[in-house]
Amino acid sequence: MKKVAAIYPGSFDPPTNGHLDLIERGSLIFDELTVAILRNAAKEPLFSIAERRNMLEELTKPFKNVHVDTFEGLTVDFACKVKAKAILRGIRAISDYEYELQMALMNRKLHPELETVFMMPHQKYSYLSSRLVREVARLGGDIKDLVPEIVEQRLREKLEPAVKLQSARKTKSGK
Ligand code: PNS
Repeated sequence: MKKVAAIYPGSFDPPTNGHLDLIERGSLIFDELTVAILRNAAKEPLFSIAERRNMLEELTKPFKNVHVDTFEGLTVDFACKVKAKAILRGIRAISDYEYELQMALMNRKLHPELETVFMMPHQKYSYLSSRLVREVARLGGDIKDLVPEIVEQRLREKLEPAVKLQSARKTKSGK
């Protein structure tokens, strides 16, 4: 029987419970799923590529048909390189749709044989994004239910000195 491979591209800075939910769903419908972390020189990420790769490898260990890789350049070129037939993307709310539709149609224009497959993460993650997780963590908020434990730990290790500095400044200034 023909096997269907897919890629799940993204920034994953950091991976959230929403990403993990989608990876699990993707692993159930595709024979092989490659989580593809974009190496984007234009962005200044919180976590390095190596750190994100390491977290994702740890988190996807239970899924035997899921691999983690990194890429730069066009997503469609990476998909062809790993012989994927589909690009998996998550849609949380209507607000995601326009951007995702644009990307999917551009990718189709670039490579018509590749299909984009949209899946919805569990509704409890519909408000969740890496950007908000970074912001809440930076400001000392609770991110326990938003990211897997190892991500929470890595965020704490990375941000704790800054958060401590911030609260020390607040105490000093009496605010
Ligand atoms: O997690 P993100 O940041 O929403 O992921 C966006 C991503 C990586 C899927 C998108 O920026 C992308 O595909 N970048 C690679 C460059 C590319 O192929 N651009 C044309 C897409 S239409």
